[in-house]
Amino acid sequence: MSDNLYRKASDSALKNKVNMMMVQVKGISEILLCIVLFSSKGFSEENFSRLSSHSFGKLLDGREVNAFVLKNANGMSAKILNLGGVIASLKVPDSSGNFADVITGFDYPQPYLDGAGYMGAIVGRFANRISGGSFTLDGVNYSLAKNNDNNAIHGGLLGFDKKIWEVEYSVGLQDSKVILSTFSPDGEEGYPGRVEVNVTYTLNDQNQLTIDYSATSDRTTIINLTNHAYFNLDGHDAGSILEHELMLNANRFTPIDESSIPTGTISEVVDTPLDFRRRKPIGLDIKSDDQQINFGSGYDHNFVIDHQELGDVSLAAEVYSPNSGRVMKVYTDQPGVQFYTGNFLNGTLVGKDGAVYGRRSAFCLETQHFPDSPNKAMFPSTTLRPGDRFSSRTVFEFLTE
Ligand code: BGC
Repeated sequence: MSDNLYRKASDSALKNKVNMMMVQVKGISEILLCIVLFSSKGFSEENFSRLSSHSFGKLLDGREVNAFVLKNANGMSAKILNLGGVIASLKVPDSSGNFADVITGFDYPQPYLDGAGYMGAIVGRFANRISGGSFTLDGVNYSLAKNNDNNAIHGGLLGFDKKIWEVEYSVGLQDSKVILSTFSPDGEEGYPGRVEVNVTYTLNDQNQLTIDYSATSDRTTIINLTNHAYFNLDGHDAGSILEHELMLNANRFTPIDESSIPTGTISEVVDTPLDFRRRKPIGLDIKSDDQQINFGSGYDHNFVIDHQELGDVSLAAEVYSPNSGRVMKVYTDQPGVQFYTGNFLNGTLVGKDGAVYGRRSAFCLETQHFPDSPNKAMFPSTTLRPGDRFSSRTVFEFLTE
């Protein structure tokens, strides 16, 4: 589907008596869904496509991966894979109206399974680290794979990022959605309970990509879900992100030890390199001789978001690139956000269009509960009990200055 199939629905057409064809399809075949607007004058001249799909190629084991492309009336688009719920591309305009893909990733699926640092993927059952790869719940000790030195990270060897998810999709008047679902059987990766999980991506005409997460379990378990997109607001292949300016709505963070596990204390950011309460270039203090920066090899820390009201979606972060004028705002209802500066990218990953992703060529803002919460009674609980539902929302909004 080409961009020029797009025509913006004018305000007047929207103000007219409007009917909409709502299309909801389940399956993976080639589709092209159109919203058709009818004005009071009859069949409208305004129509454009908000959703399409195509094959993304095959994995080495022969399984086919499909891509679902959400588009909005401004031409912004998000390509979502049924593999890992990966955001494979996110095309947003700069201040001159030029589009760039601001997410790192690959042109074909296999690298997403082969140690690509969880690029763009849904991470679970438990995002971030669990100390020693074990935790105790209701008096029972559970052991997980230690896939990050002595710790467990990002759901284990076969986490949600490596599953092929079921997909449904729908098109509305001012947005379109991809609804992903999967499950994890009782005991998978060492976690208790059969977990059913849904993740919905919605792209609307306010240039907001919203991610809604929902999970239930038939036994008491732990849950922590995030998306692990790596952003570069100048384009995924634009090089360093150190000149991007970041604001974090966080007075506090959870200090880490030398293995990146939170110590359990919560510290003020004031007078530390982790003070991003006002916009500052990411690179300004990243070379400080500071114990926290050294432990993280740069920024790789969980910040405690200053929510106006707990449970509400509030602004967590704002990133501005002076080069392109693009701004990304991140809103969430989660208590924390892991700010990671791609310290372990090392130029060995060859991405889309041959891009080489070097150290600090992208950053992550992973909205989530605090790392190692199952072993830290003082942190907000990540326990999910049968009959309860975990749900959370994060919004990535794109503007220009
Ligand atoms: C972690 C990093 C890790 C990266 C890829 C981030 O969430 O904080 O330490 O290298 O994920 O696994």
